[in-house]
Amino acid sequence: MKVIIVKDYGELSQRASFMIADALKRKRPFVLGLATGGTPEGCYRELVRMHGAGCLDFSHVITFNLDEYVGIPPYHPNSYRYYMEEKLFRHINIDRKNIHFLNSMARDLEAECQAYEEAIKAVGGIDLQVLGIGRNGHIAFNEPGSPIDSRTRVVTLSDETRIANSRFFSSLDEVPKKALTMGIGTILEARRILLLASGPTKAEAIKAAVEGPITPNVPASFLRIHKDSTFIVDREAGCLLGSRDGNENF
Ligand code: PGA
Repeated sequence: MKVIIVKDYGELSQRASFMIADALKRKRPFVLGLATGGTPEGCYRELVRMHGAGCLDFSHVITFNLDEYVGIPPYHPNSYRYYMEEKLFRHINIDRKNIHFLNSMARDLEAECQAYEEAIKAVGGIDLQVLGIGRNGHIAFNEPGSPIDSRTRVVTLSDETRIANSRFFSSLDEVPKKALTMGIGTILEARRILLLASGPTKAEAIKAAVEGPITPNVPASFLRIHKDSTFIVDREAGCLLGSRDGNENF
């Protein structure tokens, strides 16, 4: 696994966007796995800027988002679908039929999850998956305890995650208790993985994921068994990591 420690959030966003832009230019079609949350916002801003400047084409890009809250419709401002529209999709030339999202309003959620797995397979798998990390070490909505071979499924959100995400809602009560999420097994099948972490609240999770035991208690630790995963963390998120001697690879 590669860990890149950068100065601050601005540099993190820039490095991540360069990495994604470079990958998008090398393969057609390109299957991009996307994350929501506060962390990737700056990266999406950079991608939109590159597109606006005429340097980045999305016409060949197929996207799959990691997760969605159960019971929040796609047009609701708290849905992840809405987030993606606002932060990225409506600003770029992506073909709308290439956007994939878990439909958390589906009557049969199990069937919806199964169909999502099949849709990923049908396009040949994910080329590059972008991830954030929760303070509890979760990836997507795979909370501590999630097995390494978990697939796309309905999950119950931990109190910690609901409290962390309540900043986007008017009260904690409004934060859904359930979500649909790609599983850890699903994520590990992506050909490349790029995890982003910023700020001191992520420092313990990053230390545990990078230097602690590989365990379901820290779902992000499973990324260490992947053959092409990169963490870009800013100094604050990386402040508890042992000395790297200036070497980004280990
Ligand atoms: P954040 O969320 O980017 O809003 O911190 C990340 C996550 O919970 O996975």
